[in-house]
Amino acid sequence: MNKENIRLRVNKRDYQLEIAPNRLLLDVLRQDLGLTGSKRGCDDSSCGACTVLVDGEPQMACLMLAVSYQDCEITTIEGIACEGQLEPLQRAFCDEGGAQCGYCTPGMILTARHLLAHNPRPTDQEINEALSGNLCRCTGYVQIIASVRKAIELLEKQESGVAAAGQGG
Ligand code: FES
Ligand code: FES
Repeated sequence: MNKENIRLRVNKRDYQLEIAPNRLLLDVLRQDLGLTGSKRGCDDSSCGACTVLVDGEPQMACLMLAVSYQDCEITTIEGIACEGQLEPLQRAFCDEGGAQCGYCTPGMILTARHLLAHNPRPTDQEINEALSGNLCRCTGYVQIIASVRKAIELLEKQESGVAAAGQGG
């Protein structure tokens, strides 16, 4: 199959690639860009382990042809830490046991990030609904919900710290 030159923007970085047009975004991220945080957990688009954000929306990278996403801002789990610091959802999943084997965790965190961006104070039911497409074999989900709750607390503290610093200045 002929290859195509494509341009992908991932985690605020631009990449030029020569790939076959039938390559899946998940494979290009993992194999060509070395971004192995996004996982393949199933063969039937049912697990959510491959979730990435495309223009801020959660999408399953195992279903997407890379060539179709050239004008999009793609974010993987590798792109959300800030200056080497875990972001609040990452911190909370570590602290609350939301990540056990960790296989589902990148997809969970990116989906939860989308939820909190649109609904900063979700109910447990809303968290459950938002994460219903992301499967976990380890945690029973209790720790995952607790992790999202903890992240909300951390984000609120972060916001009140920023507001206090603004008033102090
Ligand atoms: S690998 Fe399971 S939904 Fe994509
Ligand atoms: S932590 Fe193992 S699959 Fe979710």
